[in-house]
Amino acid sequence: MDLATYLNVMRDPSGLPFYPIVFQFLLVLTFTLHIIMVNLVVGSTFLAIWELWKKNEYGLRLAKALGRVLTVGMSIAIVLGVAPLLFVQVIYDPFWYTATTLSAFWALLFLVVITLAFYAGYGFYLGNRNADVNSAKTGWALVAAGLLLCTALFIHMLSMEQLMPQHWKEWIVAANGTVSYSGGEFHGLELGRLLHILIPSFAVTGVFLMLYAAYFDKREDYDPKYLEYVGHKGAWMAFWASAIAIGAGFWWLGLIPKEFHFARNPLFLVGAALGVVTTAYIGASLYKPKEKAINCALFMFLTIFVMSCAREALRMKHMSQAGYSIYNYPVNADWPSTILFFATFVMGLFVLYFPAVAAFQAGKVKAGEVATLDPSLGKKAVGAMIGWFVIVAGLGIIVSLKNGVLF
Ligand code: HEM
Repeated sequence: MDLATYLNVMRDPSGLPFYPIVFQFLLVLTFTLHIIMVNLVVGSTFLAIWELWKKNEYGLRLAKALGRVLTVGMSIAIVLGVAPLLFVQVIYDPFWYTATTLSAFWALLFLVVITLAFYAGYGFYLGNRNADVNSAKTGWALVAAGLLLCTALFIHMLSMEQLMPQHWKEWIVAANGTVSYSGGEFHGLELGRLLHILIPSFAVTGVFLMLYAAYFDKREDYDPKYLEYVGHKGAWMAFWASAIAIGAGFWWLGLIPKEFHFARNPLFLVGAALGVVTTAYIGASLYKPKEKAINCALFMFLTIFVMSCAREALRMKHMSQAGYSIYNYPVNADWPSTILFFATFVMGLFVLYFPAVAAFQAGKVKAGEVATLDPSLGKKAVGAMIGWFVIVAGLGIIVSLKNGVLF
């Protein structure tokens, strides 16, 4: 059986419940959100270690704040990792399932490592909550940083193995014909790509610090000198990390097969141009971190989104070499489940809007003071949640009754 036939028969025989381009767009969008949070978590962990090593008051205060960012951020990064995972499994199922079978040991270890990273993050945050400059410890943050890098390495390897179906056979069948069922394969490491994805951790964290300085600017219990320290550190870090990420991007480009002519790919070109513009804009904002924080964040988001589109275009290039395209995946459009899916999505955004606004307003006032918030917003969010439960449970009961599986 040739490779293209293998890949195409490995697809889900019931086809896709909706058009592949929609899943692909959601895959790229949710991957962008996932990787931004991953970058924030990785950058915060390393910066917290650095700030504690300096043993000064501002460094300690910032490290404590970053301890909080890394624990909350890690939960969000993990939740946001599930979304692209679902979309990859839907449109690239032959690739994802083969990679996670070839490397089952690493795929499972990934889960263990991420769980431990989460605990280590909490160890750092809780352990230093009441620490002073002399008693603060970096041990748990070092453990978390190491484990986070392992997590990134494992998922990078699983992403890369998917792009190399032409090697799958040689990886598991030895020259003497013995087949390996160990699930311990580890292939495809591309350091240029991994670094191009991880170095922006310091750029994203830098922009986050600029936003932090702008956000707390009006709080009287925040020392303006501390906010100045944080804002300037953020802008400089964002600038240098973005500039270095451009270099790593060219390293990655050099590793891509020449026959793809990827340097001429429009998405790559727009992404690279945006990377340069963003770096220049941050460079021009070095002395106005608070004023320019939101613009820098918008530029950063746009660059990462377009770069994620380019990453997807690269995946399609690899897969077309193997005779696979998501655009000819059979579609059996299932409108009711699609409508329910999108309605859930919109409802989720609406429900999350309330805690997001509440958290934003709460941070604007000192501890113990009451923040102003429209109370009807919370009632509407709870109402939407109840409505959603009634609809989903109702539909489930009706369908089960219709199919005769309840009684
Ligand atoms: C917080 C720890 C995590 C880190 C540091 C991390 C890091 C990364 C990195 C660096 C990539 C890009 C790999 C590449 O394109 O070469 C990536 C992609 C991805 N991650 Fe995460 N990740 C984390 C957690 C998770 C979790 C918990 C999930 C799933 C539940 C997940 C799902 C994904 C998916 C689906 C992709 C894209 C794979 C593809 O496009 O084929 N990640 N992650």
